[in-house]
Amino acid sequence: MRIDVVSIFPEYLAPLELSLIGKARQDGLLDLRVHDLREFTTDRHRTVDDTPYGGGAGMVMKPEPWAQALTAVAAGRSEDAGAPGASGSAGKPVLIVPSPAGERFTQATAHELAEEDQLVFACGRYEGIDERVLEWAADHFTVRPMSLGDYVLNGGEVAVLAMVEAIGRLLPGVVGNPESLVEESHSDGLLEYPVYTKPSSWRDRDVPAVLLSGNHGKIAQWRRHEQYRRTAERRPDLLVEFDAGKLPRADGAAFADLGYDVVDGHLVRRPDA
Ligand code: ADE
Repeated sequence: MRIDVVSIFPEYLAPLELSLIGKARQDGLLDLRVHDLREFTTDRHRTVDDTPYGGGAGMVMKPEPWAQALTAVAAGRSEDAGAPGASGSAGKPVLIVPSPAGERFTQATAHELAEEDQLVFACGRYEGIDERVLEWAADHFTVRPMSLGDYVLNGGEVAVLAMVEAIGRLLPGVVGNPESLVEESHSDGLLEYPVYTKPSSWRDRDVPAVLLSGNHGKIAQWRRHEQYRRTAERRPDLLVEFDAGKLPRADGAAFADLGYDVVDGHLVRRPDA
């Protein structure tokens, strides 16, 4: 996969040289390039922002440096990567614009984007990028404004670190043991079960006995029930979306204990619970 990141703070992306993503880059699994938006300005001061039309606080990112940068990045791709492959976005690279006003980035989005040939991340700062850039870019890219969550960061860079890590670890060969991608939070619409390691007793706290029993059926059942309990407690919103149609029949009872009925394959919270 090819990833290009455009930012006025390229140094912010330095952590992408470390750990699993850094190794994936060294191993040639991920071709990730960071570009300085100011390299695409033409004035002496390398200006990237200006005051907002209509007034108001803050500054807005000027359109032309973005058009120059994105054109260069899209052109670089055809030189380096040859013809577009079987990308999910009809051969166009995907332009991700991190923004609190974007669609929510989820594990499902990470899986979807991990199938693409090229992702371009445009890191906005200040009050954001002139809206016409996104309209213009739609001719060359599949444009997707994306939000990490309902809070405001100072710019897109931190969001890019998170999104690139979430996507990059799904690329074939990046995580050593692909099985570890199967049983983790959000892989099946639920939060992950709690995990423990040695010693079995620590500061008067014992590891749940079932995990020491060697009974793999019982352990799997305990872990599923812990996923249900934890998700009901911390993220009940996820249970509304959960496909309960495929639950082992006996697990309906576990949900009943948590105050949920299974109705037409969906979990419904009992009004009295
Ligand atoms: N930029 C600023 N806030 C953001 C958020 N919540 N998600 C993604 N990008 C952002």
